[in-house]
Amino acid sequence: MSYSGKLLDCKWPLTNKKKPTMITIGPYQLPGQAVLAPMAGITDQPFRQICRRMGAAMVTAEMSASKIELRQTRKSLLRRADGDDSEPRVIQIVGTDPKEMATAANYHVESGAQIIDINMGCPAKKVCKKLAGSALMKDPRLVAKIVSQVIDAVAVPVTLKIRTGWDLDHKNAVEIARIAEDLGILSLAVHGRSRACRFNGMAEYDTIAAVVAAVNIPVFANGDINSGQNAQKVLKYTAAQGVMIGRAAQGRPWIFDEINQYLNATPETVRKTNSYEPFLLKKWHISLIIEHIQSIHDYYSRFEANHSLIQSKKTSVIKKEQAVDLAVKISRKHVCWYFNQMLQCTASLRDKRNTDSSGATRIDSVAEENKAIKKIETAKKQFNTLLLAKDQLQFLKHLFSETNLTGDIAA
Ligand SMILES: Cc1cc2nc3c(=O)[nH]c(=O)nc-3n(C[C@H](O)[C@H](O)[C@H](O)COP(=O)(O)O)c2cc1C
Repeated sequence: MSYSGKLLDCKWPLTNKKKPTMITIGPYQLPGQAVLAPMAGITDQPFRQICRRMGAAMVTAEMSASKIELRQTRKSLLRRADGDDSEPRVIQIVGTDPKEMATAANYHVESGAQIIDINMGCPAKKVCKKLAGSALMKDPRLVAKIVSQVIDAVAVPVTLKIRTGWDLDHKNAVEIARIAEDLGILSLAVHGRSRACRFNGMAEYDTIAAVVAAVNIPVFANGDINSGQNAQKVLKYTAAQGVMIGRAAQGRPWIFDEINQYLNATPETVRKTNSYEPFLLKKWHISLIIEHIQSIHDYYSRFEANHSLIQSKKTSVIKKEQAVDLAVKISRKHVCWYFNQMLQCTASLRDKRNTDSSGATRIDSVAEENKAIKKIETAKKQFNTLLLAKDQLQFLKHLFSETNLTGDIAA
């Protein structure tokens, strides 16, 4: 198995694969085609739960370091399987040493993981300089060792997340995918960028299509998918069985519902889903945001309560204030994204007004629209100054009790 380093320059046949109606990974049948991508610092348990509720067919936890000496750090403890997670509970491991990865996989399965995902997609310098994450794609022999040892170590399905290759001249995703399938990997997620591309430029889907054509396990196409229409296009172009959504879910966990609706549209609903409708923040969105922030606060204080007991014998006791701080910081990040969504609401209403010949609009004056934007910008700044979880919640509840914040908060 040598590294071919061939540039994929051909268009691949896209129609010769029959799409299964249901994506199956080992004993798990997924209820849809759109899954949440693992994102370190973002896809924690509360966010995963919210995305599941919004229709994500599967959610993956943030990558967890395989090194045994890192196992008791707060970060690693937070990245273990959580009994409250909906099934299948997917834990992603990252590392470079096959034995260590196998041990880590086993540890996570014993802690409740139902699927182990191997990270060969992360471009972070910290990860790649140790030949882990996407850097592993440079060394297919090592890939094979890691994959086979992890599969041998656990009795649950093992999946793999890769990029298109190391750089644009070394796109070996097809080679890696074949190795992985031969060794028993049960599904693949392919991010349509090389490691060298990081997050620059646009994702390309030809390599993903090539991977789909080359293997017989489910493939999730990943990269820059941000709407139902877009998801459908990528599914059609690549013939992938599913799509994996990362950044587009930030501040917009309901994207899974949007994608599901789009993909499941009947001829009668197709016209509706295709027609341009400005996105409006409805009351249920507001409830969901509050619920999300509340669950961040609850989750991290519960975590603190449980782990201060476990760690009380050790020197690194996790202090209550630290855990609360973490919840406050994490909430800020998500709320900032939610506020950005609101700003987009006003922008989309403006677009609607500008294109609407009937003149019908919910924000019917520029002044009112500017007022809404200013209010959201001010709220964003104010929220970031709050230091306590309870103040954050109070602030949001008060803010959302005011109508017309986004031009329209309809029922
Ligand atoms: C903040 C952030 C953290 C990420 N962390 C991980 C990770 O832990 N494991 C992983 O395999 N990929 C990680 N990724 C990559 C995503 O899973 C995904 O492949 C990438 O964002 C492209 O998808 P998107 O365009 O839908 O965001 C991360 C991406 C971002 C933006």
